[in-house]
Formats: sequence, structure tokens, C-alpha cells
Amino acid sequence: MRQVKTLGLLGTGVIGGGWAARALHFGIDVLAADVKPEMETWIRGAVANAEGALSRLTFAPLPPKGRLSFTTDLRAMARQADFIQENIPEQLELKQRVLADVSRHAPGDVVIASSTSGLLPSELQRDMEAPQRFLVAHPFNPVYLLPLVELVGGEHTSPQALAAAGSFYRYIGMHPLKVRREVPGHLTDRLQEALWREILHLVNDGVATTGELDDSIVYGPGLRWAGMGTNLIYHLAGGESGMRHMLRQFGPCLQWPWTKLEAPELTEELIDRMVEGTQAQANGRSIRELERLRDDYLVAIQQVLRQYNIGAGATLRALEERLYEQSGAVACPGIESALSSDSGEALRLIETHVRPEWVDYNGHMTDSRYLQVFGDATDTLFRYIGVDDDYRKSGRALYTVETHVTHNAEAKAAEALYVTTQVLAVDDKRVHLFHCLNRRRDDALIATAEQLYLHVNTAAGKAAPMESLVRARLEKIRAAQAGLAVPAQAGRSVGMSRT
Ligand SMILES: NC(=O)c1ccc[n+]([C@@H]2O[C@H](COP(=O)([O-])OP(=O)(O)OC[C@H]3O[C@@H](n4cnc5c(N)ncnc54)[C@H](O)[C@@H]3O)[C@@H](O)[C@H]2O)c1
Repeated sequence: MRQVKTLGLLGTGVIGGGWAARALHFGIDVLAADVKPEMETWIRGAVANAEGALSRLTFAPLPPKGRLSFTTDLRAMARQADFIQENIPEQLELKQRVLADVSRHAPGDVVIASSTSGLLPSELQRDMEAPQRFLVAHPFNPVYLLPLVELVGGEHTSPQALAAAGSFYRYIGMHPLKVRREVPGHLTDRLQEALWREILHLVNDGVATTGELDDSIVYGPGLRWAGMGTNLIYHLAGGESGMRHMLRQFGPCLQWPWTKLEAPELTEELIDRMVEGTQAQANGRSIRELERLRDDYLVAIQQVLRQYNIGAGATLRALEERLYEQSGAVACPGIESALSSDSGEALRLIETHVRPEWVDYNGHMTDSRYLQVFGDATDTLFRYIGVDDDYRKSGRALYTVETHVTHNAEAKAAEALYVTTQVLAVDDKRVHLFHCLNRRRDDALIATAEQLYLHVNTAAGKAAPMESLVRARLEKIRAAQAGLAVPAQAGRSVGMSRT
């Protein structure tokens, strides 16, 4: 299966738009195809709308954003894409027909995945050419923020296609969950449907309003579900003997039963109650406003979960680790060549550009982003000398103890920048760095940062000598740069001159 540089989208509605935003953000080009030409404006709007929340998801260094193009020629899209994600309406015959046609134009090593919420892959791949490269990859709305994607193979799906799809989705920050066997509704929609069916019964029977039922989740189980699913939570509810006790105690209730397996009939009255109930909950807020609120808390929750390395937070951590590693790998040849040059050079560690969301009300890069960019440069250097995730897991790290940033010129939106770094001094426990942030088009100096790092034993919370190999690598860089002049800004204090 091929490396994915261009994602082809078949259908660019709510889900197609979500896929586009996620893929573009992580550096994949997107070729979006829809039968309706007006969907071009829609998908561009959807991508712009997602950008705010997505840009706050992680501060790890991102590759340049992908490019979005649009076509109404589905076959042309199939010929050019490296991976195709189908997101057309949930109708079996329509999907079968379109997938079969597209499969005749997509090269045989291009994976084709369907976002279907509940149709079976064996049925969808029935008329396709090379059906072994087809699978279901079911995402969740908003696709650009929720990492889950259920992967389901059909009768003809090859393990290679499932593996290639899994790698691609992981690359764009997702958590592929392989479903062992195809069943209608896959896993999550089956669970969601069961809950929704009970909601419809409770509203239909006049037991509760939609708002009360949402409260019954939001103030309780919903908070638990983001970090641990129902089963692990029930294991905890059983006390010391866990799930066994839980089943002994509450298992008999399943015979009563509390729940009703058949959905109630969707009468006009029930529909009205559901609609009026949710309108009351929205309380005058538009769908867009509610989406923004939802997106903001989804970002915040994932960042909290990252601290505990569970659920979606663990996925975010793994993504960030990969982004830092990737950025380090890009810088590595430049570092090696700078170190082998006789003249000694500052190390060029980071290539970036001012992202639109980095710009403040003055139209320039905002203060906190300078620290982010300098921090990314330091991170790249540290990875190169061996202070990486494994090193940190071993209980050792380099902590920032001082930073002095000076600003020389403004950086405007979309401007390309790079950072060069000098190691000014090293000893057993300290590293003294000096970074310059430059504009790529004319090499103008935009800002500098002088930083002191202290090597610590993280468990003891105390300064401790660094590993000899790390120290030796830093020393090698310092020695190679010994001929460079000490920058004028180094060692300067902040303040107005007192006359
Ligand atoms: N909406 C959700 O919450 C959600 C979640 C997960 C999965 N899904 C699945 O994703 C798929 C798409 O759902 P959606 O909500 O984005 O639907 P949607 O109605 O918002 O978008 C469907 C798009 O497909 C286009 N289209 C229709 N026929 C086409 C054709 N022959 N060729 C190309 N494009 C065509 C339409 O113009 C439209 O833009 C469905 O299979 C659905 O089950 C939806």
C-alpha cells in the first residue's frame, strides 16, 4: 500500500468536511469530490470553522498544512488520490454503485474506506474492483476532534489494507479500533442506539424531558466515560472483588428488565417532544454557537486526559511524540552538516511559518508563540543529544530555569521563519543556549531567546548530573561553535537605563 500524500474524499458533507479539516491540519493534501459544485464553498467554510479548535489541540510542531482542492469529477479524484474516504449518504445501493465505479479508476494499491455508520463492508465491497483494499472506517462527528475510528473488514478485505489504513489514521492523530467481526452498526453506534432508544421510550412515556435525560448523563456517567468506559467503571463499582461482585449484585436486575429492546414508534407527538425539548435546551443558541462550545470543551478534555495518559489523551500524547520526533528527524541532517563544517555554524533547528491563529490584534505573531517556537527548537536539539521520551521516562530531564526574549522585528501571518541555535556553555548540570528567530525571505532577525536549562532527577525534584553521552554531545556542539561570536544580546538584562 502506498504512502498517503493526497487524501481523496468522496462526498463532502458534514463528515467529508471533518475528514478534510483533520487531514489538512496534519499536512495531508485533500482532493475533495462531490456531485454538487456548491459543496466547494461549503467544505472550505467547514475547514475554516474547524481551524480554531484544531489549532488549540496541540502545540507540538506541525508539518506545513496540506492543500485543499475540489472537483465534481469523482473519477479524476480516484485517479489522483493515494487513499480514498467515502462519505456519501447512508444508502446501500448508492454506496455500492459509487464505490464500484470509483474502484475501477483508483490504482489497485489505493485503500478505499467508507465512513458508513452501520452498513456492512462485505455488502459495500460486493461490486468493487480489487475489493481486498476496501474497509469500513467509521469516524465520529466532529471528525477533526474525536480520535476514534472503527475499522471493519469485510469478506474480501486484506489484513494489509486494514494495517495500512490503521497507520494512516494514526498518522492524522486518530485511534483506530479494529472491530473483530462485521455487525450492523459496528460497536459504538450499537451502544449509542441502545441509549437513544431508551431516551425515546422515556420521552414517549412522559417520564422525562430531553433536558432531564441529558442531565442524567452530563452530571454523572458522562464524566466517567471520557476516561474509562462502562466496563472498567463497573469493575470499580463492585468494590474489592470488582466485576464479579458487580455482576452478582446487579446481574439479576437484567431479568426484570429495566430497558425495552424495541424502539418506540416515531409518532408526530414523540417527534414534537424531542424537537421542542432540544430547542428548549439550546435556549436560543444557534447550531454554530453550540458547535463552538462543544469543540472548545472537547479540546480541553483531551488535554486534561493527556496528563493521565488515558483514552483520547493517550492518543494525543502519542501524536505529539510523533510530531516532535518528525520535526527532529527533519532537522537532523542540517545539524550533522553544521557540526562537520570547519567554520562552525549555528544549528538550524526549526523551519516554521506564522500560522493564522498565532497572530494577535496587532496583526503580528503573539508573545506566547515566540516561546512556543523557541521551545520547539530546544526540543529538537534535546532529542538530537538523546534527551527524548525514553530519557524522560527514566526520571531525568532538562528543565528551563531562565528565558530572556528580545524582539527585533515583527513576524506577520504566513511569514516563513527558521530558528538557529548556539550552545554558549555546558557543564554537568547546566546548558546555556542562544536562539535566533529569522525570517526566511531575507534572513532578517525577528527575535532572540537566551535560555538556561538545568538537568534534574525528576523523582527527587533536584538538580543532578546529566548522562555522560548527553553531556558529550552538547560539548561537541559547543566546541564546534567555539569560533562563533557571542551574540550581542547574550547576557543582557531587561530594563530601562537609569540615568
Ligand atoms: N453525520 C454523522 O454524525 C456521521 C457520523 C459518522 C459517520 N457518518 C456517515 O458518513 C456518511 C456521510 O454522512 P454525512 O452526515 O456527512 O452526510 P451529508 O448529507 O452531510 O453529506 C453527504 C454528501 O455526499 C454528497 N453526495 C451525494 N451523492 C453523491 C455521489 N454520488 N457522489 C459524490 N458525492 C455525493 C452530497 O452532495 C453531500 O455533500 C454516511 O455514510 C454516514 O452514515 C455520519
